[in-house]
Amino acid sequence: MRLSRFGEKLTTESGILALMDDLGKALAGDRKKYMLGGGNPAHIPQMNALWRDRMQRILDTPGAFERMLSNYDPPQGNPAFIEALARLLNRRLGWPVEPGNIAVTNGSQTSFFLLFNMLGGTRSDGSHGRILFPMMPEYIGYADQAIDPAVFTAHRPVIEELDRHTFKYHVDLQAIAVDADIAALCVSRPTNPTGNVLTDEELTYLDAIARQAEVPLIIDNAYGVPFPGMIFEPATPLWNENIIVAMSLSKLGLPATRTGIIIAASEVINAVTACNAVLSLANGSIGQTVVTPLLESGEILRASEQIIRPYYQRKSQQAIGWIREAFSSDIDYRVHRCEGSLFLWVWFRNLPVSTLELYRRLKRRNTIVVPGRYFFFGLDQPWEHQDQCIRLNYAMDDSDVRMGIGLIADEVRRVQAERVGEDRNSTL
Ligand SMILES: Cc1ncc(COP(=O)(O)O)c(C=O)c1O
Repeated sequence: MRLSRFGEKLTTESGILALMDDLGKALAGDRKKYMLGGGNPAHIPQMNALWRDRMQRILDTPGAFERMLSNYDPPQGNPAFIEALARLLNRRLGWPVEPGNIAVTNGSQTSFFLLFNMLGGTRSDGSHGRILFPMMPEYIGYADQAIDPAVFTAHRPVIEELDRHTFKYHVDLQAIAVDADIAALCVSRPTNPTGNVLTDEELTYLDAIARQAEVPLIIDNAYGVPFPGMIFEPATPLWNENIIVAMSLSKLGLPATRTGIIIAASEVINAVTACNAVLSLANGSIGQTVVTPLLESGEILRASEQIIRPYYQRKSQQAIGWIREAFSSDIDYRVHRCEGSLFLWVWFRNLPVSTLELYRRLKRRNTIVVPGRYFFFGLDQPWEHQDQCIRLNYAMDDSDVRMGIGLIADEVRRVQAERVGEDRNSTL
């Protein structure tokens, strides 16, 4: 098989493939695994009851089930879903969004593939557009998405040490410059992998410099408000005609419905709609059909605020407590302040091996984490920090998360002890 550049780009081993493969195998295998990798949301009983109830109503409403399964939606998305979402965003966030500002995709992952490749890369006049990530680390799923080479460029963060075991990244506002070849800026807020939430000040600044440069600011809102609401600090949601907000039904608990949402100026929506038609004709209707009445009634907001947010907030605090207990004072670690999302980002500043090696060793002990290096791309200089961090998903069963954290602590101690042994031998 002779591959095109497109073929080579998408089939070369990527971090996201390794991650999804680990996830699939962990869920499928017989042996007990402690699955702290991947991005699966939790199975929250009240949310599952809500989905079951919605499905039952669809089945019980004459013709509804058949309409959901047997019709193609228009390539922009299901009109009832789009109208209900526009009304909710007006009502809830005061965003002046109309149906012409919304398009549906087959998941946010697809949204980003379309956006990055529509905006970044070689243009018909021969010029080249780049996507600027104001702050690494960023979501692993972006890293391999640009088909043209050298599309991504990025900046390191400024690190604020909050206490002995807690830190927070900030955008290095002094360092960010929107050069003439920048085609868009992109941030996730809350951020995957760190659980960071960019401050209002940081976001307003990025919005201002993007507008000044007349390029869009893309905000990945997969964990944000109004749904799924996995955000634990007050933060103002932002949208205007220069901002492209990406949302998803996945973290509500519906990743298998593959439903992504783009909210943007109508020019962007028309472009995404055209791509949808070429790539997929239409998108999956199931998630949209299940969720539409919940958008209309506002039930989605109640569920996000009263079920999803407290659930994840409790679990994140609990997992941080287990880390404190298991790592105690003999492990040199810091956890990024968890302000949202379903991840903890742990930094081992003095680990004698890279976190890629730690990941391999943990995998042999049936504990899956994600090594930090996959979340750093587009930087022009290597940075040792990327091999000092791991991402943990704390959303799985409490006992698994606790055991997994215990095993990580144990493996880190083994690594440290081996190093002490090596040092002793070399001085003998
Ligand atoms: C920040 C972020 N963006 C986008 C996605 C993709 O989500 P989906 O394609 O399931 O909508 C994820 C998934 O984990 C994510 O964490």
